[in-house]
Amino acid sequence: MTYEEAAGIVRAPLQPTPRSRELVRFATLAANSHNTQPWIFTASADRIVIAPDLARRCPAVDPDDHHLFVSLGCAAENLVLAASMLGLKANPVATGEEIVIDLETTSPVKSPLADAITVRQSTRTTYDGRPVSGETLRLLESACREPGVSAIMLTDRARISNVADYVVQGNSAQMRDKAFMDELQRWLRFSEADAMATMDGLFSRCSGNPALPAWIARPLLGLFFTENGENRKYREQIESSAGIVVLAADAGDKAHWIAVGRACQRFGLQATALGLKYAFINQPVEVAAVRSQFASFLNLGERRPDIIMRFGAGPALPNSLRRAPEQVMREGS
Ligand SMILES: Cc1cc2nc3c(=O)[nH]c(=O)nc-3n(C[C@H](O)[C@H](O)[C@H](O)COP(=O)(O)O)c2cc1C
Repeated sequence: MTYEEAAGIVRAPLQPTPRSRELVRFATLAANSHNTQPWIFTASADRIVIAPDLARRCPAVDPDDHHLFVSLGCAAENLVLAASMLGLKANPVATGEEIVIDLETTSPVKSPLADAITVRQSTRTTYDGRPVSGETLRLLESACREPGVSAIMLTDRARISNVADYVVQGNSAQMRDKAFMDELQRWLRFSEADAMATMDGLFSRCSGNPALPAWIARPLLGLFFTENGENRKYREQIESSAGIVVLAADAGDKAHWIAVGRACQRFGLQATALGLKYAFINQPVEVAAVRSQFASFLNLGERRPDIIMRFGAGPALPNSLRRAPEQVMREGS
């Protein structure tokens, strides 16, 4: 099987049966940090529970599991939208570390956001530099509407350049941090074969880089993956974007991080439905020292900036892979 075939099977159209497996498959198509897929789904007749898979934590980039719970929120949002297509009303409730989703029969609802689930991708490339219309901005902003979560839209060129400065500052700090780089390398997949062996992680072609056998790529990484080179690329990619959205929750607990994930996934799906691309540029929220400066820049007061995404029009990149539902599902009672 080729990489493209594997990515296509992962994104096959939603089938009515087997119902729980299909809902889980669609949930796992969500954005998730480093593509670690840090989730375990327990399915019973009328309920699916999403729990964290703590074996897939990333303590260097995500010491408090913030991104992990945002990722669970992204998965919950996909599950809600997929359920609505199958005639199920899904009501996610965050309880402690889990998201409990009760399913109730109703009429099927088609929506552009649900249709975008198999198409959405994080597109880490240069966009066309053109602004988007006021109506597009309004739709993107309303997709982020979620209780306890604010969305800050930046379209002013000077403010966008300011964000690029924070991204560069955060990226430099991360690339000088051995623990961050060691952890990142564990999730990098340099070849199709490596990516398909685990069906997770960050495959080089999904970030616009060539695929190479790992034994060639790993020793060369330090030559091609440099702090200056990456900073230049980030600045160019950010400057080519139509805008940036920052999500900030009212509080810093797991329930709020899950809510941020739901808003963030809807943003990505709405951008996709509008024919736009988007990508995460989270360095300023991942490096604690930069995060507090970035919060002041946005006048967030005590609130934490949770997620940063840029958007615009651009070409698609190869899609990422996911593990099969069987690998992330447990039978419920
Ligand atoms: C909480 C969270 C944080 C993320 N941070 C970044 C980031 O800083 N940079 C980046 O390129 N991608 C980031 N991503 C995107 C993931 O790497 C991406 O969703 C994953 O590799 C799967 O690929 P896909 O979104 O194309 O399906 C983040 C995703 C989530 C949910």
